[in-house]
Amino acid sequence: PCSHHGKTPPCADALIAAGVARVVVSVTDPDIRVAGRGLSMLQAAGIAVETGVLEAEGCAALAAYLTRQTKKRPYVTLKLAVSSDGMLGRLAAGQVAITGPVSRGQVHVLRAETDAILIGIGTALADDPELTCRLQGLEVRSPVRVVLDPRLELPVTSKLARTARDVPVLLVTGDDGEPDPAFSARRKALEAFGVEVVQCDPRRLDTLLVALATRGISSLLVEGGARTAQSFLDAGLVDRILLFGGATPLGSDGVASPCVPGRVPAGFSLRHTARYGADSLQDYERDD
Ligand SMILES: NC(=O)c1ccc[n+]([C@@H]2O[C@H](COP(=O)([O-])OP(=O)(O)OC[C@H]3O[C@@H](n4cnc5c(N)ncnc54)[C@H](OP(=O)(O)O)[C@@H]3O)[C@@H](O)[C@H]2O)c1
Repeated sequence: PCSHHGKTPPCADALIAAGVARVVVSVTDPDIRVAGRGLSMLQAAGIAVETGVLEAEGCAALAAYLTRQTKKRPYVTLKLAVSSDGMLGRLAAGQVAITGPVSRGQVHVLRAETDAILIGIGTALADDPELTCRLQGLEVRSPVRVVLDPRLELPVTSKLARTARDVPVLLVTGDDGEPDPAFSARRKALEAFGVEVVQCDPRRLDTLLVALATRGISSLLVEGGARTAQSFLDAGLVDRILLFGGATPLGSDGVASPCVPGRVPAGFSLRHTARYGADSLQDYERDD
């Protein structure tokens, strides 16, 4: 329980005033304004305090909050749908169905649970995705949508731009557009649709993640494509990898996935598997 005045008075004081006899704690809050002080207040008031109960489970449930508090960046989940021959899609073929409706439903649940979702401009141009949560009743839980778009190529006719007033869209570019009038015109046109242009080098993913965390984003779902996924892996900024494996092959003209079921970069361990109809799910977590 907290020990400081934020939007509400200290929770530790409220617990003491309520006459609670015993408090069982899973995870201690690493927020420097709290960091064990609330627990000391409880103990000083004669309340029995037990800590570390189901701590690993507690940390898993609070991974996003804890990552933002301790690493000053969001918890990053890389999600990829991979065909049976290790492909993410086909060049210039638009969205290709790799997995079935149950897997896709699971992805929408993930979106509802996540603060922001990120793709590269390659995917935005190839697939014209909406990246919202379209599960009935959970539409309002759609995450903030972020596109790495160095040259501001997102068309104003894209689904992302056209829905930017309903669910925020951030375009990340390192360029301030000077002195290119065409860039400035694209920026103006996109902003007129409610798209926000964020000036931050999209190649500096570590800096970008810190910037997202300062906006209150604790969890980020990276949904591709191949180059964006590879960049996050290369930068060591992936905490969890979710591989949805489809049952059918796409063929050798496909876009190869940087991870395939059973073969992910070193430093990740398989935590969980599931079957969704004909598809498989492999859920890997970073070891540290
Ligand atoms: N199956 C799946 O789960 C899944 C998910 C998403 C997409 N896809 C498929 O993947 C394909 C698109 O993949 P892609 O690799 O071409 O595109 P991408 O990764 O979505 O986008 C690459 C573009 O983003 C820019 N970019 C800016 N910052 C970047 C950074 N830090 N790292 C990487 N790129 C950055 C690149 O700029 P530069 O040009 O300057 O390098 C490039 O133009 C499509 O076929 C799509 O259908 C599949």
